Amino acid sequence: MVFTGKVLIVGGTQGIGKAVAEALGQDAVVWSRRLGVDAADPDSLARAMQRDFGTAPPWGLVHSIGDFVEQPLLTTSAKDFKHLVESNLGSLLHTLQQVVPAMVRARRGRVVLFAAAGVERQRAMTRAPVYFAIKAAVVQMARSLAAEVAGSNVTVNVISPGLIAHEHSHLVSQQRLLPRVPVMRLGNVADVVRCVLWLLAEDAGYVTGDNFTIDGGMQI
Ligand SMILES: NC(=O)c1ccc[n+]([C@@H]2O[C@H](COP(=O)([O-])OP(=O)(O)OC[C@H]3O[C@@H](n4cnc5c(N)ncnc54)[C@H](OP(=O)(O)O)[C@@H]3O)[C@@H](O)[C@H]2O)c1
Repeated sequence: MVFTGKVLIVGGTQGIGKAVAEALGQDAVVWSRRLGVDAADPDSLARAMQRDFGTAPPWGLVHSIGDFVEQPLLTTSAKDFKHLVESNLGSLLHTLQQVVPAMVRARRGRVVLFAAAGVERQRAMTRAPVYFAIKAAVVQMARSLAAEVAGSNVTVNVISPGLIAHEHSHLVSQQRLLPRVPVMRLGNVADVVRCVLWLLAEDAGYVTGDNFTIDGGMQI
């Protein structure tokens, strides 16, 4: 795996993002609220971008933010709806607008985003309909961006995890769904990290606009 610069992990202090940062070691730059960077605030992102990258953009961007609320559609509160949009979609748009133009100017870059397994299937997602609808929008947004920047050697791909257990994941709900996982185990962060690292690599430049499901076969 070869990079020609740093990889910025927005949301890299826990869960999947943290595991990616650990795998990258010295090549990782991590942003999150507990480190003073709020991706819901474009000004906060702009300050961090200036501080950490100046005019030279990162080689890679991993956006690993996206809160989950398990609630039926008709009882999802306006507050939860607003939060889900801001966490999953707002923080993503603000981050992309802050980082990707510099990649385009540099004519190189790799972007890896997170949706959720099943969002592209034509079926109901009754466990968390608002969350999954918003994640479907993430995939759509990623594909559009991939087309927008493809001529600049910047790739944009999505990973759609299934039930990935870690110390802050929704373990009760994940355990409840375990019988539906054909490989008969919950995923772990390492299952996802390998795919992220591959998509970040320089020689993955012919892979763009795609959505990779990592769910132990749940969508079969
Ligand atoms: N784990 C799963 O099973 C699963 C399944 C399907 C999809 N996904 C998706 O995969 C991605 C990663 O999941 P995860 O479980 O690793 O997430 P997670 O445990 O919730 O971690 C989210 C990270 O984002 C940071 N963050 C949250 N809001 C932020 C903000 N406004 N600005 C900056 N940083 C922020 C958090 O740190 P701070 O609190 O310090 O900001 C934390 O480091 C998410 O998009 C999630 O929806 C996960």
